[in-house]
Amino acid sequence: MNILGVDVGGSGIKGAIVNTTTGELITDRHRIPTPDPSTPQAVADGIHQLAKSFDYHGPIGVGFPSVIHNGIAKTASNIHKSWISTNARDLFSKMTGAQVTVLNDADAAGLAEMTFGSGKDHKGTVLLVTIGTGIGTVLFVNGNMVPNLEMGHIFLHNGLAGEKYASDAVRKAKDLNWNAWAKRLNTYLITMEDLTWPDLIIIGGGVSKKQEKFFPELKLRTPFVAAHFRNEAGIIGAAMAARQSFGKK
Ligand code: BGC
Repeated sequence: MNILGVDVGGSGIKGAIVNTTTGELITDRHRIPTPDPSTPQAVADGIHQLAKSFDYHGPIGVGFPSVIHNGIAKTASNIHKSWISTNARDLFSKMTGAQVTVLNDADAAGLAEMTFGSGKDHKGTVLLVTIGTGIGTVLFVNGNMVPNLEMGHIFLHNGLAGEKYASDAVRKAKDLNWNAWAKRLNTYLITMEDLTWPDLIIIGGGVSKKQEKFFPELKLRTPFVAAHFRNEAGIIGAAMAARQSFGKK
């Protein structure tokens, strides 16, 4: 089934129609800048605009950069604080007139990667880390997801939260060269592997398109790979989640 998947990020809202049986995008990806301020109404308007740009009227899956419990946003690190306690699912549904499912953006990326991508058929413990404006994490144990993991906020030995030290936004804000940033990311990933002992780490988010610039600097005991779908994993997984919610084949 073809479903619109949307990935709401700190800097862009991206969407495409996805063949949820194969994980392929069947349209180009459309991107609009995340509104500033990124209030619930402004983001909902953006999602409505995206759906209209595809002339799409079916169910929509949305990956969102927050803890999501039953459609409700519980946290707001890189989006407007008024998101906290907002029912994102109901709001997006009201704006678009569509059935909407909402899940954490890293959880969405994980769904896509574990089903069709770098974690396909992988047993054991797989940690996926998405690196963008923030750092998102999701853990799979024998294919079962541990949702809303939020390990991007873990404090490192230097006293800083992971995403305040090693996100792509920090790389850009501090104008770090790739080597300097890779060292920071390495510190973060070592902390993660020491705490979760995964069998595989999948690195996603915008930077996964540029793996040659920083992978050589990563010195981890755990095998690591780039997300197969790169930064599109979130879009694909969001569409897959909508298919699961609405039971369409
Ligand atoms: C949020 C997570 C999100 C991650 C990546 C973090 O700031 O707390 O929920 O998955 O950013 O967008």
